[in-house]
Amino acid sequence: MSLVKALQDLPSDAPEVVVEGAFSKEFLKALGFENLEVVPGFKVGTKVVDHAARKNIDDDIFLHTRKNPYLYMEVKGRTWNLGDEKCANYRNALLQLRGYLLHPSSKSVQWGILMNSLHVQLFRKHGKVIHPVTPCIPIDQDINSVVKRLKAIIEAPKKALTVVVYNNKGGVGKTTTTLNLAAALTLRKKRVLVIDFDPNQSDLGDALNLKPLKGKVLDALKNKDINIKDIITPYKFEHPKLPEPWGFDVVLADEKLVNEIDERDIRKHLRIHDLHKALDSVRNDYDYILIDAPPNWRIFAQKAMYASDVVLIPARHDNLHSLQNAGIAITQFIPEVQEEKRKQGEYGPIPLPIFMNNAFKETDHQIHLMHQAIRKIVEDVKQNSNSFNLAPYFYPKAKKGQSIDTSKMISIPHMAFISRADFMHMPAAFAFKTVREQYLNLALEYFLQ
Ligand SMILES: Nc1ncnc2c1ncn2[C@@H]1O[C@H](COP(=O)(O)OP(=O)(O)O)[C@@H](O)[C@H]1O
Ligand SMILES: [Mg+2]
Repeated sequence: MSLVKALQDLPSDAPEVVVEGAFSKEFLKALGFENLEVVPGFKVGTKVVDHAARKNIDDDIFLHTRKNPYLYMEVKGRTWNLGDEKCANYRNALLQLRGYLLHPSSKSVQWGILMNSLHVQLFRKHGKVIHPVTPCIPIDQDINSVVKRLKAIIEAPKKALTVVVYNNKGGVGKTTTTLNLAAALTLRKKRVLVIDFDPNQSDLGDALNLKPLKGKVLDALKNKDINIKDIITPYKFEHPKLPEPWGFDVVLADEKLVNEIDERDIRKHLRIHDLHKALDSVRNDYDYILIDAPPNWRIFAQKAMYASDVVLIPARHDNLHSLQNAGIAITQFIPEVQEEKRKQGEYGPIPLPIFMNNAFKETDHQIHLMHQAIRKIVEDVKQNSNSFNLAPYFYPKAKKGQSIDTSKMISIPHMAFISRADFMHMPAAFAFKTVREQYLNLALEYFLQ
């Protein structure tokens, strides 16, 4: 049976069991998974996901071995509304899929699909991070082109997760976070590329004692005889006690972008997707690409966000603007870029939970003020933008109905070693064990499964 025929045969109110039958099988087949490569009702811990799939490798037949699943598909009936991201139906289905994907037995899974035969959405899993790579696409007469689009993404997986560290307030720890997360991920044997995309400050290069580039970044962005690979500087941390240096790769800031060219000129020559395109040639060389973005919402910040899969937003509990700006990034700037990418047939980025840097050494009263300020930000957003709930972004560890306190937030404490490392021109996480432990925890909290 063809996929189109299977779709036509579905009753308009087909319940889950009916969609799960002939149609799901044809759908997975069209995505490139044959019968022996699909397990219906696949056990994930004590639960069961509707389908798991993986290509067979020689005599490792997935249907028989049921080892190392590659993709999960959660199927719903047609009356289950997946077409509206704000609808409880959609949110519950996504929670369910996330639960399967994050289960310890699902480490090998790289893709998740939500599908009810009227809509379909593809999610990518990278370590602990699950992010949508398509919007929720309507399935209609043109089902073959929908499948083609999903298949193209699944068949060309990219190794790197691209993360932009962003808050349009300065001094909240963007550069510190970028560097020390890079250090922590390096220590967990991940290949990391760091991009200093804040040419006005070039703090990141300075923190590593590396000099800014002159004009080459601009040429690489314009794709002018020079590839981003050609402007990578390896950073090495050497210490007599280390058998070999620790290190990661860096694309340094470009002096020329601030000193010689004005922004109108840059806008004329460069497009919002330049960095995104330029990074495509290195996305398979790294596990993580971390971008340090400038504290504003102008062209470089926009490019950095466009190039990324997820946005990590540091804020400070004692700085009201940084908390408000975190909310603005999530409710305005990120949706703006999502809209731009959607026009190009792409999707993303999505915000990760906000993280509190330099946190909680103040008096209790200060912490009370922070909760109060966050409550107001959350309420204002609820009223102004269609009951969108920001609270889980501030308190990602709070379960439904639980009271909030600082233990429900993700944070890095104030540590004097961090500013001391500025003067030593090296990442604090390499130089000091206590800092290292904090950032390894942060890497586990956000990224490593
Ligand atoms: N958790 C922390 N504890 C102590 N000092 C910190 C911490 N995070 C950042 N800093 C210091 O605060 C200053 C601003 O941080 P930085 O990363 O440069 O902010 P941004 O890049 O957002 O402007 C730096 O001097 C840095 O050393
Ligand atoms: Mg900075």
